Parts: sequence; C-alpha cells; structure tokens
Amino acid sequence: MSKTAILEIDGKKYEFPIIMGSENEEAIDIKKLRDLTGLVTLDPGYKNSGSCTSKITFLDGELGILRYRGYAIEELAEKANFLEVSYLLIFGEKPNAEVLAKFENDIRKYTLVNEEMKSILDGFPKTAHPMGILAAMTSALTSFNPKSVDVENENDMYCAVCKTMGKFLVIATWTFRKSMGYPMNYYDNTKGYVENFMRLMFEIPTEPYKVSQTVIDALDKLFILHADHEQNCSTSTVRMVGSSHAGLFASISAGVSALWGPLHGGANQAVLEMLEEIHNNGGDTEKYLAKAKDKEDPFRLMGFGHRVYKNFDPRAKIIKKAANEVLETLGVEDPILDIARKLEAAALEDEYFKSRNLYPNVDFYSGIIYRALGIPTDMFTVMFAIGRLPGWIAQWKEMRENKEPIGRPRQIYTGSTHREFE
Ligand code: CMC
Repeated sequence: MSKTAILEIDGKKYEFPIIMGSENEEAIDIKKLRDLTGLVTLDPGYKNSGSCTSKITFLDGELGILRYRGYAIEELAEKANFLEVSYLLIFGEKPNAEVLAKFENDIRKYTLVNEEMKSILDGFPKTAHPMGILAAMTSALTSFNPKSVDVENENDMYCAVCKTMGKFLVIATWTFRKSMGYPMNYYDNTKGYVENFMRLMFEIPTEPYKVSQTVIDALDKLFILHADHEQNCSTSTVRMVGSSHAGLFASISAGVSALWGPLHGGANQAVLEMLEEIHNNGGDTEKYLAKAKDKEDPFRLMGFGHRVYKNFDPRAKIIKKAANEVLETLGVEDPILDIARKLEAAALEDEYFKSRNLYPNVDFYSGIIYRALGIPTDMFTVMFAIGRLPGWIAQWKEMRENKEPIGRPRQIYTGSTHREFE
C-alpha cells in the first residue's frame, strides 16, 4: 500500500499521498493542499520544498553523492569529456562516438556570432563585470534569433541546443576580450570546444598561440564538475523564467544573473579575493576563522558550506586533487594554495564548522586552478556559467517537455490592512 501523510487542522483530517523518487526519496505531494484546506505552506528559500520531479541529476547531501543521469560524478570527471557530459545531461543518454562527433560538429555550425553583437558590447564600460555583460549579451542573442524554439519538434530543439552551446562560449570570452581591449576572436572549427575556449580568450593576432593538453584536461574536468546540480538558485531561475514560455536565451540570461551572486557562483571569485586578502595581511588564517564565527561580523568563510551538502561536496574532493596536479604539472608555486590548505585544515578541526556541517564546496579550490591557468579573477564566475550551461539547457528542456505550469509561488501578506487614502 502506498504511504500517505495525514494533516489535521481544527480537528479535521486531510490525507496527502507520499511519492517516492527512484532513489527512495520521499515527498508529501501537496498539490491539492490549497483546494482542500484553503491553506498554503510557507518555506522561505525552499529549504523543504521540491519544485519539480526531474530525471537529470541526483544528489544526496548527507552521503556526498552526485550523479548525472545515474553516472557518478567521479567516474564522469575521470572518463568523459565536457561535450559528452553535456549531451548526456541534455538528451538523457551517453552519446556513442558517432553521435558525439555529430554533436560537436553541429555546435560548430553555430559558433559565428552576429557582428552587430559587437556594437552592443562596445556600449559597456571597460570596467564592467563580465557576468553583467554576459547576462546582457545572452539576452541580446534573442533579438538576433527571434524565432522561438518549438519544443515539440525534436530537430528544432536539437538545433537550439547546439546554437546555445556554440554562441554562449564565444560571447562569454568576448566579455574578457572587451576588458583587455583585444580584438574579438572567432571559434576555430578545426579545434575542440575547450581548446577553443582558451584560444578565444587569449590568442592575439600578433603571436602564435598553443594550449597545453594539461590545461585543456583541467578545464574539461572543471566544466564537467559544474555542469549540473539539480534545483540550485540559477537552475531554478532558468526553469522559472522558462515556465512563462520565455525563450531559451532569455531564460539562460536570467540564470547567469542568478549565478553571479556571491552566495552562489560568485563565491569562486570571492574565495580567491578572500585568500589573497589573508595572504596580503600576513597569512593569519586563525584571525579569519574567528571573523567567520563572529555573529557580529558579516564575514563568511567563502567556499565553505552548502545548502544541500551536509557532508563533503564530492566535487570539492575532485577539484582539490586536480588543483594539486595542475599546479605541479605547470610548475606553479602559489602561496595562495598553502593558505587554502591551512584554512581548510583549521576549519575542519573547528567545533563551529563541524557542528554546522560546513565543509569546503566546489568553489573553494576551483579558483586556484583558474588562477594557475591564467584566468583573471573576475572571469571565474563566467567559467562556472560556461560549465553550468548544459545543465541549464537540460533543465529548461525537461521543464518544457514535462509541460510544467507557470511558476507562481504564494505568499503570506503581512503589510497594512485596508486604509483610506486621504
Ligand atoms: N562561514 C561561516 N558561517 C557559515 C558559513 C560560512 N561560509 N556558511 C554557513 N554558515 C553558518 C551560518 O551562519 C549558520 O549559522 P547559525 O546556525 O549559527 O545561524 C549556519 O552555518 C547555517 O547556514 P545557512 O546560511 O542557514 O545555510 P544555507 O544553506 O542557507 O546557506 C550557503 C548555504 C552556501 C549560502 C552558505 O553556506 C554560504 O554563504 N557559504 C559561503 C558562500 C559560498 O561558498 N557559496 C558557494 C556555494 S557552492 C556553489 C554553488 O552551488 O553555488
């Protein structure tokens, strides 16, 4: 017999079904709550609320498990490449070699960005944060591609996916070129997606440019680790915006804005700035730990804590190992890494962090790798966005295919009751 939950209000009992996910997660299905009782629930930050059912990503925050479409993140980071993982997330199955080659080739067909987009870019000040530019430029892509995606049409949807994957990467790198005063670069269709990222960023017309395989492999892994994370703030934003049937570019642009915040993707930039500050102030990690614990001080230990992981973030483990390897292979000695190690060790021994289950998250070590690869600090969150793009697309597509209703939460009004305007 299927389980139910009984809710008693003013002596009257109401029964609600308990639904079970494929990993035995249980949830009280309250779809009929308001109709039956006239009541709504209150759950700021959605700490207890599921907004959808999803087949894309499974994570268990207590056990530190993360899987895309059933495959463990550890295995994907080791054996797959970023476009393969993107295809898996978006279309549900691992592509065979032929399908993957076609996918890569089809993305290439869309890597040319309309030249008029450059005049939009020109309007931004050189000092603008790249995430702000990226959100605006992604939204602007809608104007250059006004035909909305027919989600019922497989081919139309496939082309929209390839177009988004192709153009987003290029405009993401243009935000950096703009800040440097470099001419905009074009995708080289003879090279791979991740290699193109480095070329698009750093190749200048006056010099030959070669990317090392170590760099490509490290970036590929980082993009895989960021590719999806179920209903986080930016992904929920993408689903929410898309639920009004706004287009894919507009929804992704909203996701970029949500990701920018320092409590979400912006944390990777904040981590590095924090580590630099500690280093510049003599490396006293204890002082910063004390600040993080002081409730009178707004300072938080950036890169620590997670809404759902109450155990080690599995991505952080992989990234920590990768950071050590990359720095060693590239022969980079970075005192910032020593500060990070010291801070992590001290926090893991500290009662405040232990009792609150605060562990390093994905952002704690990613910035150290980006820095070793020569990526400037204010581009770190853009790197997160490039990695998260397939996840956003997959979740948008699933939401539309599931014909989810428009997202429209309720509220409990606590303002003035009716008063006369005299
Ligand atoms: N430093 C110090 N104290 C912390 C921290 C931290 N980084 N994170 C949480 N706490 C404390 C918090 O003050 C609270 O203490 P108390 O119970 O005494 O009031 C307790 O731990 C629970 O925190 P919370 O804010 O209720 O937890 P949350 O689930 O709402 O927030 C978080 C999760 C990620 C926003 C938060 O841990 C945080 O601000 N971390 C720093 C920013 C960061 O690294 N963000 C990246 C997240 S991973 C990448 C991504 O997916 O976006």
